[in-house]
Amino acid sequence: MMPDDLGHRTATAPAEFPDSPLSRVIRQPLILGLFLPVQSGGWSASLLSRTTDWTFDYNATLTRRAEELGFDLVFGLAQWASKGGYGGISKYREESLDPFIAVTALSAMTQRILLISTIHALFGPWHPLHLAKFGATIDHISGGRWGINVVTGYSPREARMFGGQHIEHDRRYEMAGEFTDILCRLWGETEDLTLRGKFWSLEKAFVTPKPVYARPILVNATGSPAGIAYAATYSDLVFITSPAGHEIDAALAALPAHNAVIKAAGAERGRELRTIINPMIVCRETDREAQRYHQAILDAADYGAIEGFVSHQQTGDAIAWKAHGDKHRALGGNIQIIGSPEHVVDKLIGLKRAGCDGIQVAFFDFAPDLEFFGDAVLPLMKQAGLRSA
Ligand SMILES: Cc1cc2nc3c(=O)[nH]c(=O)nc-3n(C[C@H](O)[C@H](O)[C@H](O)COP(=O)(O)O)c2cc1C
Repeated sequence: MMPDDLGHRTATAPAEFPDSPLSRVIRQPLILGLFLPVQSGGWSASLLSRTTDWTFDYNATLTRRAEELGFDLVFGLAQWASKGGYGGISKYREESLDPFIAVTALSAMTQRILLISTIHALFGPWHPLHLAKFGATIDHISGGRWGINVVTGYSPREARMFGGQHIEHDRRYEMAGEFTDILCRLWGETEDLTLRGKFWSLEKAFVTPKPVYARPILVNATGSPAGIAYAATYSDLVFITSPAGHEIDAALAALPAHNAVIKAAGAERGRELRTIINPMIVCRETDREAQRYHQAILDAADYGAIEGFVSHQQTGDAIAWKAHGDKHRALGGNIQIIGSPEHVVDKLIGLKRAGCDGIQVAFFDFAPDLEFFGDAVLPLMKQAGLRSA
């Protein structure tokens, strides 16, 4: 809360309202999100047959089902791929919906679930005033359920598509900081705003309606010192990756220290940060069946797509993914959990103990895998105290 001119204290973040959608979600022992496959191929460069589809109808069905099952949030990534996507027989990720537009439509079709969309704030001629206005609009459509994952653009190729140049890593966070600062001021100011920033200026700018709970939910995805400093200043939720690569036990060993650094950075600024990690989950009745299915996914690897995706990632400067190799990409995901429902829940308990406040799951075959997760894993999560009713 911030004191105003008369000494009253005014809420500046959605978590300060006990009845905000974000407050409801962060009361869960382990926040549960679904990573929407708004891009063709989802996270898996494999040709094994599956239902996973980038289309709006498919993602809308998943979102409604996730809401029914009690998931807390859905999330869409944003990418700018060239013709042929990342290559291979599948033209991996060639097709993708813009998550901001997709999530805006989803917000009118849902009642409770949070909807987070990624935006490359520094690409093209985005002005904070655009996003303040668009964000206030979706905030009202969704009743305070919308959040923005602010990304700065790790890929030089994507920056060049907009006629721009790749900007140095930490300078991007400096720019994103000013951008977000202006957003928050526009959402909070009750008078016209005039300012001359280092990167953006405004003259008598005003945004109304104001967001329902002070401002939309702010999110960023990072593993770097500059990104953590940004998160500590602005974000409610931080998407993290494993500093030790995709293998779950290595991740569980490395995550306590990583989470502690991020939370300490927030605490230094008097803020409580919540971290969310995204496991790719392959779950079947038994460990053996899950491993067999995993093997079938690997056997159908689209090697051209894996190579294309890995070389795309290597042209970027994302620090959070530095420890991630390429062998696991046929299945994909930042970390992988493969096994029976009991095995999966055991690892989720491990993630909670390692200091993660939430998970955002991805699947190979989203629609049936989400059903199986709802039937077999969620009840065990409740029994284990990871989810409350
Ligand atoms: C869960 C998650 C989702 C992400 N979504 C996107 C995205 O949609 N678009 C994008 O360009 N980068 C995305 N990123 C990459 C981040 O923007 C960033 O480049 C990466 O986390 C490295 O940040 P760092 O260099 O600060 O460590 C995502 C990262 C994570 C962990």
